[in-house]
Amino acid sequence: MKHLLKLLDLSTEEIIGLLDFADKLKYELKNGIPHPILSGKTLGMIFSKSSTRTRVSFESGMFQLGGHALFLSASDMQIGRGEPVEDTARVLSRYIDGIMIRTFDQAEVEGLASAGSIPVINGLTDFCHPCQVLADLMTIREYKGELEGRKLCYIGDGNNMANSLIVGGLKTGMKVSIATPKGYEPWKEVLDFAKDYPNFTLTTDPIEAAADADAVYTDVWASMGQEAEAAKRRAAFAGVYQINDKVLASAKSDAIVLHCLPAHREEEITAKVFEAHAKEIFDEAENRLHAQKAVMATLMAD
Ligand code: CP
Ligand code: NVA
Repeated sequence: MKHLLKLLDLSTEEIIGLLDFADKLKYELKNGIPHPILSGKTLGMIFSKSSTRTRVSFESGMFQLGGHALFLSASDMQIGRGEPVEDTARVLSRYIDGIMIRTFDQAEVEGLASAGSIPVINGLTDFCHPCQVLADLMTIREYKGELEGRKLCYIGDGNNMANSLIVGGLKTGMKVSIATPKGYEPWKEVLDFAKDYPNFTLTTDPIEAAADADAVYTDVWASMGQEAEAAKRRAAFAGVYQINDKVLASAKSDAIVLHCLPAHREEEITAKVFEAHAKEIFDEAENRLHAQKAVMATLMAD
């Protein structure tokens, strides 16, 4: 594994290996066992979109691994004024040891990786959010013991989260059910991947999707970059594509609720469900730290 660009690139063994490593790093951190695996190394973090969790968990994770992280706002870099991504990649490869990038177009992330000579980690694009899904799978394992045979249900927009959950869930042996409004389905290349898996279902009915689920997941109706479509999207999603008591009644009685955050209460999730499942949701947020440390240590260690 040279980069983490999208989960489609990873084998099942690579995903499970990262989850096992993340569990180990979490145990060590909680027990005061230092792990300076990236001592002397620097990670550059390029952001073209906002972030709380990704920025802070990568930066503190890098520090805990003995290295240094550099916050690079794309709007303050020459890349924001049109310097080609390929040139940026070749320059950064001379200074630092790895790049985390959050941007719009997946092609930009792929371009950085192919032009540079250092590992590139996708910190979210319009297409996918692999770091989030590694943390999500880690959390489901913590609560449910294993992934194989468990059912993951996602309700909402067929966006970067839906795309990555489908790939991560199916590759690790989960049943994956998705409920989206018509016209907001997951992306074609993900549906093409999923069509070979009999344990994948796509519907417009959240109650049907949630049936017997072990984990129920949602995300915002309008992602970063889709602000202008917010009203149109609200009309398509409101009242139906929400985790609420009725949807949860269809899931297993001990189902966990997950949300990548930030959450919009009373839109994709009710405040009541959110607070009743806050433990799981904030464990999930914490696991970003451990999962990304596993990714960085795997990709950037000598
Ligand atoms: N879930 C997630 O990636 O959060 P941020 O946008 O705050 O980084
Ligand atoms: N789908 C959301 C995820 C945020 C972590 C977005 O792209 O804005």
